[in-house]
Amino acid sequence: MTTAAPILPLVLDRLSFAVRGKNLLHEVSLTLEPGRRTVILGPNGAGKSLLLRLAHGLLQPTGGRVVWAAADRLGHRPRHALLFQRPVLLRRSARANVIHALALAGHGYRERRKRADSTLAKFGLTGLAERQATVLSGGEQQLLALARAAAQEPEVLFLDEPTAALDPAATAEIEAMLDNLHADRVRIVMTTHDLGQARRMADEIAFMHRGRLIEATPAADFFSRPVSPEARAFIEGKLLW
Ligand SMILES: Nc1ncnc2c1ncn2[C@@H]1O[C@H](COP(=O)(O)OP(=O)(O)O)[C@@H](O)[C@H]1O
Ligand SMILES: [Mg+2]
Repeated sequence: MTTAAPILPLVLDRLSFAVRGKNLLHEVSLTLEPGRRTVILGPNGAGKSLLLRLAHGLLQPTGGRVVWAAADRLGHRPRHALLFQRPVLLRRSARANVIHALALAGHGYRERRKRADSTLAKFGLTGLAERQATVLSGGEQQLLALARAAAQEPEVLFLDEPTAALDPAATAEIEAMLDNLHADRVRIVMTTHDLGQARRMADEIAFMHRGRLIEATPAADFFSRPVSPEARAFIEGKLLW
């Protein structure tokens, strides 16, 4: 682990995002404290992916600020990672995919090999290490993408609907690995439209609807006594978009 100053809390301060004059995200404010798992929940089109991309710095907000508590890079090494719904892997072996990412982050030759092998083992992927990544099953590819991200030891891991394209068994496997990462103190921030997953994975819920953050509360409160009519409708399966 790093001895650098902590990057959390992360403050999303009145984030707005507009495209051609159309506001897609309306002054979303959210503080991400360390130690919890946050699920950004909402129907399709709510703005979950946009919010995650803004937080990760992949998009620049047209209003508001993203404020980390300390520098969010250490030299070449980003201190946060983003996992997409569909992994983008190189047409190389599973192992080479992890090694390549570690090389980009500036890790030396021996270190990246050692770290790739130990990470693949942790994710149960040793047997697939020499297989070409792009021919693996969807679940295996996502597990590999997660391993590749984890190998870089991010302090914060953003995940955008990481299991939306996976079957229940592969979903359970990814969720179990996220539990392990959480136990290893990686800060999990994930989006989903899946209530079941939100119930399983969230310590706190940020509920979004139509580009707005409607409520941000501890998960237990969200499910037992949602405040907004939108959240109530969503929990009852009556809010479709
Ligand atoms: N680059 C873009 N240009 C125009 N509209 C966009 C762009 N990105 C997202 N949107 C729109 O913004 C809204 C929120 O998108 P998104 O964050 O992907 O929602 P979610 O992830 O919650 O399903 C959607 O209506 C989507 O069509
Ligand atoms: Mg999305």
